[in-house]
Amino acid sequence: MVAAGRGERFGEATPKQFLRLGGATLLELAVEALASTPGVFGVVAVLPADAMEGPRGRWARGLRGILDVVAGGATRAESVRHGLSAVGSAPFVLVHDAARPMATSSLAASVLEATRRHGAAVPAVGVLDTVKEDDGAGFCRQTLDRAVLRLAQTPQGARTDWLTEALDLARRRGIVVTDEAHALELGGRRVALVEGERRNVKITGPEDLEEANAWAEGAGGGDLRVGTGFDVHRFEASRPLVLGGVRFPDEPGLAGHSDADVVLHAAMDAFLGAAGLDDIGVWFPPEDPAFAGSDSRVLAREVAARVAAAGFEPVNLDLTLLAERPRIRDRRAEMRNAIADAFGTEPERIGLKATTAEGLGAVGRREGIACMAAALVRRSRRPGR
Ligand code: CTP
Ligand code: MG
Repeated sequence: MVAAGRGERFGEATPKQFLRLGGATLLELAVEALASTPGVFGVVAVLPADAMEGPRGRWARGLRGILDVVAGGATRAESVRHGLSAVGSAPFVLVHDAARPMATSSLAASVLEATRRHGAAVPAVGVLDTVKEDDGAGFCRQTLDRAVLRLAQTPQGARTDWLTEALDLARRRGIVVTDEAHALELGGRRVALVEGERRNVKITGPEDLEEANAWAEGAGGGDLRVGTGFDVHRFEASRPLVLGGVRFPDEPGLAGHSDADVVLHAAMDAFLGAAGLDDIGVWFPPEDPAFAGSDSRVLAREVAARVAAAGFEPVNLDLTLLAERPRIRDRRAEMRNAIADAFGTEPERIGLKATTAEGLGAVGRREGIACMAAALVRRSRRPGR
């Protein structure tokens, strides 16, 4: 993991690899993506020489998956050489820029697979724009054939012996290589091309970090998923009424296996649907005695955990209660808080409305209460997962 640059083009005193994207630094995100890739034994971080003994060095040594921390060199290629000296007897190595926090571990896995097969591999994406060569005087010299052009990314993979030899050769010839594939090409090795990821941009200037933040926040083309839920329960006057995790003491309750909280049930199905998971009937079977009389807030917490494990976090939840009674207006704030708490999110993200059925249908005839829900989730903010 090369993280020894100064980030001069970024223009901040703190080198960019130590800046934050969402809750984590670029370096941390990049390390996380590699460390969680099957087949990766560990990560050697190459840091600026002056950061080795300070708090940044200590912090980097403590990151999950870090094997060793070494000081970088004057160029990226020199930093890679320093890193290679600490990888030991590993037969293959991936070299990744700490400035690419958006790379996923599935990308690292496909580079690793191609590296095992071909000896060296680089992720790259096709060029979408027409490419001009500048004649140096502000005019077009010519148009290049974009069909054969590729933009190289990292992590790049190679047999460790090939890469060590290639970097030594480039150094002896005095050629400044800007990536590993370049050195390998000079050394006569064939480097396989693997499909890269458009989002895997290198953070160079502040605008790149802004864009990455927008992506990570889900604003700029983030992965959003919507789900809907519906539930209805018949009145059973002898039971306590629970709606949205809140008790209504003087109201007739609802029949059901659990506490019959139609609001939380509709909400759970909406979240599960959004995440593409099975519905509550599958997770908490009505015939299973374990769930008899259970508090739906506990079930909602479990649903929230499953949605998170599937890689999603709540954006918002909107609920419409269909009931002739009770009136929920005075308890609405309390219900929103309880619902937000059950799903591990903020009350501002919960919409809650109620309507009567104007005497129409089963709800109108006061046979029961129904609830409709819509939930929006997004891929969790941590890129690389
Ligand atoms: N890098 C390195 N050692 C160097 C130079 C660069 O380890 N001597 C690392 C950077 O930390 C970064 C990656 O190589 O993760 C890609 O380099 P680049 O984007 O150019 O980063 P910087 O060199 O830090 O930025 P700048 O060129 O703007 O100074
Ligand atoms: Mg640089």
